[in-house]
Amino acid sequence: MRDEVETDFYERILLPSETIQARVAELGEQISADYGGRAPLAVGILRGAVVFMSDLVRHITVPIELDFMAVSSYGKTTKTSGVVRIMKDLDEDIKGRDVLVIEDILDTGLTLDYLMGYLGAREPASLEVCVLLNKQCSRDIETKVKYCGFDIPDEFVVGYGLDFGEHYRNLPFVCTLKPEVYRGK
Ligand code: IMP
Ligand code: MG
Repeated sequence: MRDEVETDFYERILLPSETIQARVAELGEQISADYGGRAPLAVGILRGAVVFMSDLVRHITVPIELDFMAVSSYGKTTKTSGVVRIMKDLDEDIKGRDVLVIEDILDTGLTLDYLMGYLGAREPASLEVCVLLNKQCSRDIETKVKYCGFDIPDEFVVGYGLDFGEHYRNLPFVCTLKPEVYRGK
């Protein structure tokens, strides 16, 4: 099992693979029930949401289409840039569609705020958000985010789609990194 090897870079596993998979299945069931009789368009936010999204959609039983957007991210740092730029826009017209945005993690909420305004202006029939991780647990996201996988502490995490300088996205678990990894050893 990947959870048991390659321990040199990570400090602590916050979410083991089994825990993530169980929750993703639950979210898929919930989304399937909520969207009964409809055919939503899932909008994955590249690149972090790709791993989560690909597992999640396999637990969704209503007809679902996939599209993607890319927005500017942190780059090789653990601090938010405060600037959201659209690097890749949607291919589909979302007017009148039931849009479900899939994000990897909500930190300051800046990225999501921007996206909701941007997508909302295109007049979808509905616009909801499914996020794997909610970092700043104190922040009230109830009004914005209908589906949330896990609340996690305010620490920088990688794995299951999340990266540090484009690395570690392929880990099947979510973990924190050893301080020397940030320092480049
Ligand atoms: P926000 O705009 O501050 O909510 O940041 C959201 C984006 O920042 C996410 O989509 C991630 O790309 C990135 N991000 C925030 N926290 C982390 C983290 O702990 N690890 C990796 N990426 C993160
Ligand atoms: Mg991201």
